[in-house]
Amino acid sequence: MNKTTGSLQARNTNIKLARRSSVIPFQKLPTPQLPPRKSGVYSSVAAMVSAMRPTAPVNCLRPEVIANISKWFVQNFPGEVMFAVKTNPDPRVLRTISRAGIKRFDVASLAEIVTVANNVPNAKMYFMHPVKNREAIFAAYFTYGIRDFSLDSHEELQKILEVTNHADDLNLYVRLSMASDKAAYSLAGKFGVKLEQASSLLMATRKASRKLGLCFHVGSQCLNPQAYDDAIQIVVDLLTQTDVRLDVLDVGGGFPSVYPSMTPPPLMDYMQAIKDSLAKQPMLSGCEVMCEPGRALVAEGGSVVVRVELRKGNMLYINDGTYGSLFDAGIPNFTYPVKAIRPAGEMSSELMEFGFYGPTCDSMDTMKGPFYLPADINEGDWIEIGQLGAYGATMRTNFNGFYSDTTVEVGDKPLLSIFGVN
Ligand SMILES: Cc1ncc(COP(=O)(O)O)c(C=O)c1O
Repeated sequence: MNKTTGSLQARNTNIKLARRSSVIPFQKLPTPQLPPRKSGVYSSVAAMVSAMRPTAPVNCLRPEVIANISKWFVQNFPGEVMFAVKTNPDPRVLRTISRAGIKRFDVASLAEIVTVANNVPNAKMYFMHPVKNREAIFAAYFTYGIRDFSLDSHEELQKILEVTNHADDLNLYVRLSMASDKAAYSLAGKFGVKLEQASSLLMATRKASRKLGLCFHVGSQCLNPQAYDDAIQIVVDLLTQTDVRLDVLDVGGGFPSVYPSMTPPPLMDYMQAIKDSLAKQPMLSGCEVMCEPGRALVAEGGSVVVRVELRKGNMLYINDGTYGSLFDAGIPNFTYPVKAIRPAGEMSSELMEFGFYGPTCDSMDTMKGPFYLPADINEGDWIEIGQLGAYGATMRTNFNGFYSDTTVEVGDKPLLSIFGVN
């Protein structure tokens, strides 16, 4: 053996040794699922975790749950129901809701219009964002046949009229500013004409409309049905002062879902409050009535399954966070129902309070909870986080490269239900 061959052999042996020590344990890990599976149907979340062992967050949809709540709304709301698409624009959700009998969709952007048009052929869309760009109004009216638009200013009214060439078939909805004090989430800060300025806008809009509508939003996750009665009384007082004929009253969204720290009254109380309120206002007797629920229709029909990547005391570093599907668990501090999943073994029956850190570098990616989970939860365990069918996956960003597009359908019950199914 010459000197060169000998040193080459020694080098190869060194490389093999180095590989043995540092690379082999890594090779034992399962191959990461890249790109992730985009769909699938499983009997339960546990069955999905056993089969997929997902390394990225998985959104789980329960179409049957969404269908049942949608049917319940159609049967019990005293008017027409439209779905607020922003809450969950997943095509499977849109199709499920439509099959359940809801044919009207509240859209906020051109992207939502295109999604609805592509997935629900006979949908009737309402462009209910009070501030729209001209291009979106143009496409909505001329390409997608939308005739219903909301507004909260004379400037927006003018914009809609100019872009549609002063069309005579517009149904325009004046959005009224409404207190959100009975809701967990205020929607009063940004949109809605103030009561003092509403009369002149109503009169101008009446002149430009085929049908004149009035809409309001009592805030999201409204915890007191009285809010709708109060709002309807304000509408009636305004109509009395202004003396305009109203064709449509849209009582907005705001119907609640249930969360571990927030148990609202039964949904039927909201329906009854609206029915009673309408019944005592003869002025509204000829009006078409509508609502635009989002959260209540879809929250419990969706969850996200995350994996624990590290535990530090009672904080769990998980692979989804406030820049992903868990925005509301951050600063708004919504707590969600949780369930730990360890396919290969038992977990402690003792529950402890945990908080979560999301995967990004930002300290705001922190979710205080508390989330109650088994005391021995650790790296490699999965957690199902419930009530995320609304304002969950729709809020995802690609920040830090953490974005998961995997959605599966599951057939088991949600972790929590406003109808008390569990
Ligand atoms: C115009 C409009 N309609 C409906 C909704 C749906 O509200 P919720 O999910 O509270 O029912 C929202 C929520 O932001 C909204 O802005």
